[in-house]
Amino acid sequence: MARIQITGGRRLSGTVEISGAKNAVLPILMAALLTEQPCRLSGVPHLRDVTTTMQLLGQMGVDISIGDRSQVSLDASGLDTDLAPYELVKTMRASILVLGPLLARNGSARVSLPGGCAIGARPVDLHLKGLAEMGADIRVEGGYIHARADRLKGARVVLDTVTVTGTENILMAATLAEGTTVIENAAQEPEVVDLAECLISMGAGISGHGSNTITVEGRERLAGYDYQVLPDRIEAGTFLVAAAMTGGCVRVVNVRPDTMDAVLDKLKQAGAEITCGEDSIELDMRGRRPRAVNITTAPYPGFPTDMQAQFTALNAIADGTGVVRETIFENRFMHVLELQRLGADMRVEGNTVIIRGVERLTGAPLMATDLRASACLLLAGLVAEGDTMVDRVYHIDRGYENIEEKFGQLGAKIQRLPAG
Ligand code: EPZ
Repeated sequence: MARIQITGGRRLSGTVEISGAKNAVLPILMAALLTEQPCRLSGVPHLRDVTTTMQLLGQMGVDISIGDRSQVSLDASGLDTDLAPYELVKTMRASILVLGPLLARNGSARVSLPGGCAIGARPVDLHLKGLAEMGADIRVEGGYIHARADRLKGARVVLDTVTVTGTENILMAATLAEGTTVIENAAQEPEVVDLAECLISMGAGISGHGSNTITVEGRERLAGYDYQVLPDRIEAGTFLVAAAMTGGCVRVVNVRPDTMDAVLDKLKQAGAEITCGEDSIELDMRGRRPRAVNITTAPYPGFPTDMQAQFTALNAIADGTGVVRETIFENRFMHVLELQRLGADMRVEGNTVIIRGVERLTGAPLMATDLRASACLLLAGLVAEGDTMVDRVYHIDRGYENIEEKFGQLGAKIQRLPAG
């Protein structure tokens, strides 16, 4: 498996362009299933999860072509199956996002149950409960979700846990349901808002997106879309944390600062000087060591769980003791064991990790376990003395486009090595 080697000790500086948001691209690509009209999405990053999504849609009969400058065109008029097979779903849990659109467009869907993953059990019970409340007949048999509905009916769906893809599945299904659907305790993530805006451009009747109550007036049919996806706030946050950890000065461009308040607030607490433009953010650490910060993850607009590992790495070398609480997933501390191999002083107590910042880390061979944990190991390698080798970087390629080139542009000594 490919590996990435980093030689630590370089202060990052310069400008890096942020790619389109993975967690908005995935549902918006699936939304093409809702219409027979052609769709075009711009700003699509080159990621494993995007490739997997295109494979999944392609084998369902969706005609897909990749244009230049990260444009993807889709035409689902030839949709010829309602099956999302285990072989693909097991490689990407977000495949569950075909369920709502298939049910709404087709009246039937057979989707492999996405298993758990490294960070948790990741159940989809709320997706199924919401669709059942809209009149779908849902059975789980042989590891597959079998769903049928002549036509979904609008309903009031109360999600007892905030779920991003659960909200997105129900939102997409509701756009073609008969009548009005109200989603209570809906996820407010910017990626959910971007999906809603794209659906509205297709003619969907949506209001309240970005709040915890979304209302959808069902339509008979939807038009296609020609849409530009929003920038990836987690990729942007990852590069800003790298700048803070190395004492550098980095400017990220093609970003939406208004989607990053909780992360920028923590970076300021860590001692960074932050300057925001309309679509850019500059972080200047002026060579200082970051101060430790306390983190508690929460649904948006709270601090994002997808930035927890990155700040755990920052706290590992910060001045002081930082406490990080993970409230969204039950097992999202695998990076702690790896960071300890570099000399980090941290201990896990339940859903909390207490981190005493150390002056220096020492490079070592590491193993990536999940997407964001892998990114955090790269960050630690940027500051560890000597060489750090991160194995199983396919995890990283799921969510970060050309990560070693981008870090290299900023002055990091980093290279991708073929499988060892
Ligand atoms: C989305 O996952 C993101 N993935 C995740 O990003 C992100 O970490 C997560 O939201 C939280 O922000 C995509 O958007 C493709 P959830 P999702 O449903 O939707 C529980 C990354 O790194 N829950 O919001 O699967 C669940 O167990 C990935 O890009 C139920 O109990 O997460 C968790 O504790 C990792 N029943 C909590 O809700 C359900 O039916 C939040 O999960 C659904 C969820």
